[in-house]
Amino acid sequence: MIDLLTIGDLATRAGVATSALRYYERERLIHSSRTGGGQRRYEREVLRRVAFIRVAQRVGLTLDEIRTALAGLPEARTPTVDDWERLSRSWRARLDTQIELLEHLRDDLTSCIGCGCLSFKACRLYNPDDGAAALGEGPRYLLGNRPRDLGIGGN
Ligand code: FES
Repeated sequence: MIDLLTIGDLATRAGVATSALRYYERERLIHSSRTGGGQRRYEREVLRRVAFIRVAQRVGLTLDEIRTALAGLPEARTPTVDDWERLSRSWRARLDTQIELLEHLRDDLTSCIGCGCLSFKACRLYNPDDGAAALGEGPRYLLGNRPRDLGIGGN
């Protein structure tokens, strides 16, 4: 006999709100069966799918990307160790980019970030005449550009 979980059981064990589970189900990320009275019942394996979804969201994947990743698995199957390895490998580049961004943020918070405000003393050195705007919108130096991208000396 299969050990089925109510939505409350699943929410408690997974650490997510029941509304989130209903949302995941509407988005076809998880699947339930219904009792004769119309109540949702989840196979215990759904816990691993929910864990996968939560981790993927923390990595920054969109629901579409998560759906695509899970779509590679048969509906009835929960990600295996091999699946985890393969799927998480594809997150590496994204994580590397995020780490790089956070390092820029950490290192540059107290100096010019290339946002166009030109209000800090350092901006006169790093972003004269808002030259960083030529690299795109937003705080260019936090987004990965460097003054050298404009042919300006420094780092
Ligand atoms: S901090 Fe805004 S342009 Fe330098």
